[in-house]
Amino acid sequence: MDMSMRHTLLGLFLLASLFSGNAQVKYLFEKPTAILRPISYEIPLGGNVTLSCSVEDSDNWTILWYRGSNDEPMTEYEGKKAINVSQSGVYSCRGRSDSGRLTYKSDYAIIKDTLPITAIITIQPKWTQIYMGETFTVRCEIPGGEGTYWSYDWRPKRFTTYYTTNERTFHNVGWEDNGDYQCRGNKGNSLTQWSNVIPVNISFTLRPVLTVSPSWLSPGASVNLSCEVEYPSEGWLFSWYKAVPYYKITEEPYTYELLPDGSKTAQSFYIINGQTSTAGYVCRVERGSNFYHDYYSDPKFVWSADVNSAASLTVGPVVQNFGYDSVKLTCKGNSPLWRVRKFPENSVPYCSNFWDSGESVCTIDTTYSDDGVYWCESMSKEFSNAVNITIQDFYSGPIMVIPDDPVKTGTFVSLSCKLRRKKIFPSVAFYHNNKLIQNDSREELNFLAVSKSDEGSYKCQYSGKESPSRYMSVKSAAGPESSSFPVTARMKVMNAVAFILVMMLSMNQ
Ligand SMILES: *[C@@H]1O[C@H](CO)[C@@H](O)[C@H](O)[C@H]1NC(C)=O
Ligand SMILES: *[C@@H]1O[C@H](CO)[C@@H](O)[C@H](O)[C@H]1NC(C)=O
Ligand SMILES: *[C@@H]1O[C@H](CO)[C@@H](O)[C@H](O)[C@H]1NC(C)=O
Ligand SMILES: *[C@@H]1O[C@H](CO)[C@@H](O)[C@H](O)[C@H]1NC(C)=O
Ligand SMILES: *[C@@H]1O[C@H](CO)[C@@H](O)[C@H](O)[C@H]1NC(C)=O
Ligand SMILES: *[C@@H]1O[C@H](CO)[C@@H](O)[C@H](O)[C@H]1NC(C)=O
Ligand SMILES: *[C@@H]1O[C@H](CO)[C@@H](O)[C@H](O)[C@H]1NC(C)=O
Repeated sequence: MDMSMRHTLLGLFLLASLFSGNAQVKYLFEKPTAILRPISYEIPLGGNVTLSCSVEDSDNWTILWYRGSNDEPMTEYEGKKAINVSQSGVYSCRGRSDSGRLTYKSDYAIIKDTLPITAIITIQPKWTQIYMGETFTVRCEIPGGEGTYWSYDWRPKRFTTYYTTNERTFHNVGWEDNGDYQCRGNKGNSLTQWSNVIPVNISFTLRPVLTVSPSWLSPGASVNLSCEVEYPSEGWLFSWYKAVPYYKITEEPYTYELLPDGSKTAQSFYIINGQTSTAGYVCRVERGSNFYHDYYSDPKFVWSADVNSAASLTVGPVVQNFGYDSVKLTCKGNSPLWRVRKFPENSVPYCSNFWDSGESVCTIDTTYSDDGVYWCESMSKEFSNAVNITIQDFYSGPIMVIPDDPVKTGTFVSLSCKLRRKKIFPSVAFYHNNKLIQNDSREELNFLAVSKSDEGSYKCQYSGKESPSRYMSVKSAAGPESSSFPVTARMKVMNAVAFILVMMLSMNQ
């Protein structure tokens, strides 16, 4: 700021002080604005709303009220800081000082009144459930309101709120389109009442369920694939595919080939004649246009027990390991690469996750594997015969699970009694060196801080069946590994293993 300017301002200040006193100096430079609340309001017919106006200043202002674009204030309300209005319209206010100075006008308050007219909202198509990716349209009707130019307000309120068409279409819908849909007509200062509510709750999962019957092939019988969806009568088209083992095992296990005349059938079932070997199928559903998502079922299989030379699965023998037992599955045939599959898919064998070459052998651990139907699939797209495997046929008792390596004193150790079957009696007994130490519903035996005295052989008993004994060695946290005990321990385990082996061999006869 240079000197001359400073002098000019000082002069103005003094001048202002002289004329009007210190408090009002600033009004030579700025002009206050009146503030009006509320800014927008809807009043039902016959109702009213209280509007209040203020000027942010300690001064005494006389409030003037305006309606519409009138320049003349409404005399009946002059001087009132709050007024009740029952008429729709655009209101504003301002202040006038004793000396006749005026503030700026306030923002407009837009008051609309609601007519006793109803709007009706409808939705197309009339599906019970809308699924992610589908399209729907809502439409607003105002009975008796024809011939008038309406715009439309919509709920849920999204994007801009001003629509001049009475339809809104939502494409490729997702979670953001969920909500209670409503509409109303909007005409100048008048509104219709809000319409009825149409709740929209988009479902993210559409999993058609395929049923294959029969599950096991018998000569001459046809196979019926049947595809189920939640609301079967609502415009679905079905497509039918055959599963082909896919070489990239980390991705989907299969690719799918359309079955003859299997595209978009209106019928929800598909008949296959002359099927002789194990095969997998899926169905797919779609409806409407703009259907963005493809909804496939999980693959389902029809199994053949007949061994053929192109692809075969043989089961056995039982393999003994250190306190565990396992069963060998062997895939043989024309293809160099094989994998083993299982149904149901829980606890799938490890060998389902890679292609094994040559005479592929998969070993399933009977402790961790489940009963189920097992079969082989080749890279050259062949399916072997399928075999029901009931693990119980191989070994039915519980297994004492113990860390393979010596545990350190002072550490937390959890031993468990692995039960394959559902519990019938909720009671598991644990023995340490043949002495009962725990007998309740827990399947674990926990040591918060294991000590040297916990070393020894452990076994568990469940439902009258006893597990083989296994030895837990404990070494001191600091010192070198404990020495001679494991020798006798291993002897005991070996004895137990030999015992099971004898039992199983006799079972297999
Ligand atoms: C405003 O409405 C209330 C009831 O909602 C009524 O008691 C009051 O008399 C009305 N005032 C005016 C000025 O219409
Ligand atoms: C406002 O007006 C009232 C009465 O007219 C008066 O008593 C009061 O002092 C005035 N206030 C100011 C800040 O001028
Ligand atoms: C407006 O109406 C309310 C009742 O709804 C009443 O309490 C209030 O005094 C009225 N205000 C004015 C300025 O008339
Ligand atoms: C939508 O449906 C799901 C189940 O399909 C339900 O859990 C959820 O509460 C529903 N949401 C609304 C807003 O109705
Ligand atoms: C196939 O199964 C479906 C569903 O169970 C059934 O409605 C249909 O009649 C069956 N078709 C034949 C030819 O058996
Ligand atoms: C496999 O087990 C199922 C159910 O227990 C049975 O219906 C089916 O006939 C069995 N298949 C063979 C080949 O044994
Ligand atoms: C374990 O407890 C159950 C029920 O309390 C009892 O029936 C069973 O005989 C007990 N087992 C042993 C080995 O003591």
